[in-house]
Order: sequence, then structure tokens, then C-alpha cells
Amino acid sequence: SGQTATGATAVAHPNIALIKYWGKRDERLILPCTDSLSMTLDVFPTTTRVRLDPDAEQDEVTLNGDRATGEAGRRITTFLELVRELSGLEHRAVVDTRNTVPTGAGLASSASGFAALAVAAAAAYGIDLDATALSRLARRGSGSASRSVFGGFAVWHAGPDTGTAAEADLGSYAEPVPTADIDPALVIAVVNAGPKAVSSREAMRRTVDTSPLYRPWADSSKQDLADMRTALGRGDLEAVGEIAERNALGMHATMLAARPAVRYLSPATVAVLDRVLQLRQDSVPAYATMDAGPNVKVLCRRADAPRVADAVRDAVPDGTVLVAGPGRGAHLLGGDG
Ligand code: PMV
Repeated sequence: SGQTATGATAVAHPNIALIKYWGKRDERLILPCTDSLSMTLDVFPTTTRVRLDPDAEQDEVTLNGDRATGEAGRRITTFLELVRELSGLEHRAVVDTRNTVPTGAGLASSASGFAALAVAAAAAYGIDLDATALSRLARRGSGSASRSVFGGFAVWHAGPDTGTAAEADLGSYAEPVPTADIDPALVIAVVNAGPKAVSSREAMRRTVDTSPLYRPWADSSKQDLADMRTALGRGDLEAVGEIAERNALGMHATMLAARPAVRYLSPATVAVLDRVLQLRQDSVPAYATMDAGPNVKVLCRRADAPRVADAVRDAVPDGTVLVAGPGRGAHLLGGDG
């Protein structure tokens, strides 16, 4: 390909968790309290180019054409420090990243962002990592990014709870999940594309530290994951949806019970949830999941997606509704220099 040891471009897509990642047991290494499982989408790609600049004294990061400042820029520089450590090279980098998804709106822009950055930066710095190692690396940028390294359905292992930090770090990566073909679609209702009031990082911390519902949810999530694997393995979309919906509602319950409460769900969210219930009463299998924001993703069969999308549009006339399917994992683009 056109990749050289000094420049590389990668593309990654967001993923939506059906079994949620919510809560870290190690903030620095981004080790989660629980395993999680997601579907990588075929919409909202992030494209990131990383070029080494031997003359630069600082990394230069551009997000959608604007110089990244503050927290967003710091997170990327911290991540590049890690890549420099792994590569033994000290060169600063010029990073140009383009997101087609609203940033920080609970639409997983950090997942596609850090998956693309991990793949592009590893190539630009000349470190040869397999998919497992790329997933571990992406995890250090944003936990959910570990799953966007893979296409389709992926499970992210929390990693061993005993032993050294290095052992835990080695054991916490994503991998593809064996599934029967359920021909799934996610109908995405963007009810508010603005940035969230509380970052997922802060919300997780507050939930783990203060919510009396956190432990029970984390424990029940183990059974949800086991049930989800079985349901995916036998291609049972109804069961997949039911498990995903209960796991997501449980996650939101943990944060509603945090002190002070974190509430991402809005009236428009609830309007979509009501419509999803109505669809089920009308014998259309449709199941909702929500992340760190008011937007709703509705899992259904691809054949039912147009009907589900119409119902959701009707519930939130001011929203934007689109249909996503399973997408590819993060990958390099050829022809770059
Ligand atoms: O990786 P982060 O810090 O963006 O956290 C994402 C957490 C959720 O999207 C709410 C759940 C998940 O598993 O993706």
C-alpha cells in the first residue's frame, strides 16, 4: 500500500453496545469493571491521518479542520505519548481527523475516533500490532474504541481482576463474537446532536463511586452477556433485543441513582421508547438502547427497518432518523504518504 513509516490514514466506525461498558476499575489504563459487547456500524466514519514531523516540538491536532484545544487535544497528545513509548520514536505528529458524527453527543464519536487514531498512529510510527494489540491500544484512548477495531459484533473483555496491572492490561481487549446471521439494523434517532452536559468519563466515575445500584447492575450484566452470546449464536434477534434493552435501561438506572444523579434521557428519548413498545405490541420486533446522551438506537431486522424508522420519525418530528447496519472494523487506507 502507499503507507510509509512516517504517514498513514485510517478509517473507523462507531459501535453501539448491546451490553454496556459503564464503570472503570482503573482510570489510567482504562480497565472496565465489566465485559461489554457491541455492533460496529456502517455509518458515521471517522478518517484520521497521522504524519510524523521530525522538526515539530509539539503535536498538532486538527479536528474537522479546527485546531483541537483543551481536553480533546490533551487526550490525543496523551495517546500519542503512549504510541511513542511503544515505538521508541520521539517525533511529534500532525494529526488530522474528520468525524461525520456529532462529537460528544453519545453517538460514540470517541470510539471511532480513537480506533482510527490507534490504527493510523501505529502505522505512522512503524509499530506492527495485530488486531488484539490494536484493540488494547485503542482502549487507552477511549474504552469503547477497543471494540471498533473489529467489524460486526465484538466483545471487550474486562481482563483479569487479580494479578499485576500489566497482566490486567494484557487481558483487556476486544475480539469478534461468533453470530448466526440475524440481518440486524439499528435505527438511530438523533433527538439532540449537541454535546452532553456530563462527560461519560465523569458520569462513570460518579456512578461507580456513589450509586447503590451500580454493583447489582454490574453483577447482572455478567448474566446478560452470557445470555447475549447464546442469543447471537442461535440467531435469535428477539432475545438479543430484549437483553440489550434491559441492560441499557439498567445502566441508566445506575446513573439515575448516582449522587448527584446523571440523567441523559430526555422527553424525546421517552417518546421514542414509547413508540418502540407500541411497535412490539404491533408484532414488530424492535428494542431500544441509549448511551451517554438522549439519542436512541433501535435494534430490529433489516427488513423491518423502514417501518421502524417511520414510527420513530413520527415520535420525534424534530429529530433526525437514519438506519445503520453492521460495518467494517478499523482499517488503513492505501495510497497515503
Ligand atoms: O468509551 P467511552 O468513555 O466513550 O464510554 C462509552 C460508554 C457507553 O457508550 C455509554 C457504553 C458503551 O459500552 O459504549
